Amino acid sequence: FKHAKSASEYVAAQIAELIRERAAEGRPCVLGLATGSTPTTVYAELVRLHREEGLSFAGVHTFNLDEYYPMQPNELQSYVRFMNENLFDHIDIDQANVNIPDGTLPEEEVLAHCAAYEQKIVDLGGVDIQVLGIGRTGHIGFNEPGSGRESRTRMITLDKKTRQDAASDFFGEDYVPRRAITMGVGTILEARQVYMLAFGEGKAKVVAEAIEGPVTPIVAASFLQEHDNAVAVLDEAAADRLT
Ligand code: F6R
Repeated sequence: FKHAKSASEYVAAQIAELIRERAAEGRPCVLGLATGSTPTTVYAELVRLHREEGLSFAGVHTFNLDEYYPMQPNELQSYVRFMNENLFDHIDIDQANVNIPDGTLPEEEVLAHCAAYEQKIVDLGGVDIQVLGIGRTGHIGFNEPGSGRESRTRMITLDKKTRQDAASDFFGEDYVPRRAITMGVGTILEARQVYMLAFGEGKAKVVAEAIEGPVTPIVAASFLQEHDNAVAVLDEAAADRLT
């Protein structure tokens, strides 16, 4: 796409079409959602579709990719707060249908929480559409270099580059949590349809590695090459280094 705005509207339209289809069939719709700066315009467009075109999220279930650990939901950098402010507070979704990895749990409960998160996705029939951004390390979710194809929802250690990129949100790198809970590469690859969004020249190098480089755990996003329905949604700047 020429610009991020039209790219975002395209993704929002795909999501809206699925939501309407599922509502007509009386079946739930399961969305996998990302945070960060990239998908905010997709969420703004979904809010607009709700307000102006009556798009209802009543039958929608959502699973977010990740959350910092530890993290309280009311903290400024919490992904719970991000999702409420950017999407959930402005639509008619049932809060009971919203799932975000829990950054408040004691460490000994995280493993069981991750297993339950995976199970809940399976019980709902799997993710229909997964929205992804991509980090400078090639991460999708917080699957940092070294994350294998079979990895599942788990606690991970954040890469130094990722913590540097988050430093401004936390008012300094020292305050960025060292860990996070993320869906795995294997979890993401099970989604029926994936849209990986990347906008701006800062993403051009990693986008080229992910799309045209070897499939490798060094660049977790490269595993999307093996997915039958994964689409990279790019603006011109992010696509600049593709051959
Ligand atoms: C966020 C997530 C991350 C981001 C990535 C890009 O839930 O899973 O993979 O998508 O770090 O972040 P932005 O969009 O801020 O450049």
